[in-house]
Amino acid sequence: MNIHLEKDGLEDGQSLLPRHVAVVMDGNGRWANKRHLPRAAGHKAGVKTTRKIVENCVKNNIEALTIFAFSSENWSRPQAEVSALMALFVSTIMSEVRKLHKKNVHVQFIGDRKQFSEKLQKNINEAEGLTKNNIGLHLNIAANYGGRWDVVNACKLLINEVQNKNKKIQDIDEACFNSFMSLNDVPAPDLFIRTGGEQRISNFLLWQLAYSELYFVDTLWPDFSDKDFEQALIWFAGRQRRFGKIIINH
Ligand code: IPE
Ligand code: IPE
Ligand code: MG
Repeated sequence: MNIHLEKDGLEDGQSLLPRHVAVVMDGNGRWANKRHLPRAAGHKAGVKTTRKIVENCVKNNIEALTIFAFSSENWSRPQAEVSALMALFVSTIMSEVRKLHKKNVHVQFIGDRKQFSEKLQKNINEAEGLTKNNIGLHLNIAANYGGRWDVVNACKLLINEVQNKNKKIQDIDEACFNSFMSLNDVPAPDLFIRTGGEQRISNFLLWQLAYSELYFVDTLWPDFSDKDFEQALIWFAGRQRRFGKIIINH
């Protein structure tokens, strides 16, 4: 289904559909537990949902989708689960990238990829290389990503520029700082969705979520349907975004 929303009641310049959606895909483990399956089975089922939601974004002409696949804290899970997740990333990238390329999707990874195996890093680089000129959906996959890591990383890059005399301290403002952060090539997320019932950010996009609309839903990620996603889009269309201003009704 393509979303058709009424434009009544919107401020000038306010868009009905989000340009950028960020998603914490949570609840795979609980989905598997409920079925007496290993947690890895939940992650595998979660990939199917991810595929569906990516396709939905393509169909609805959403500009950017950023998904949280693996946090910098997820390394602390049992070794078996981490290994299963890494294997799933490799196989999913291999099986999906060509299909995404055909759909004109531009794939980019955010996070510290140096901690991944050489094989996974190679897969990541190939996926980015193959799709780098695509102008359709901008799909950002947050892997070994942490919002705090992102801020510290931007600081390091910026300090380096200052030391090399390419930047002066007095020239640093929010726009300049943002240009060193992940996702600097897309607008900040308009809509943040977290499945699985928890109402927290869990070190996702701390800087970029400053003015995002936050949508939390109990549905576990493998059960999250197109209809559920479109429900979130409809909820977003009903939000009045003020960005600190007040809205004067004449
Ligand atoms: C999210 O699902 C996927 C990853 C963190 C990789 P979880 O694995 O956190 O699932 P729950 O929250 O334990 O149900
Ligand atoms: C956030 O979920 C990370 C991903 C979905 C990849 P977690 O399951 O790791 O978050 P917490 O532990 O509930 O905060
Ligand atoms: Mg979780």
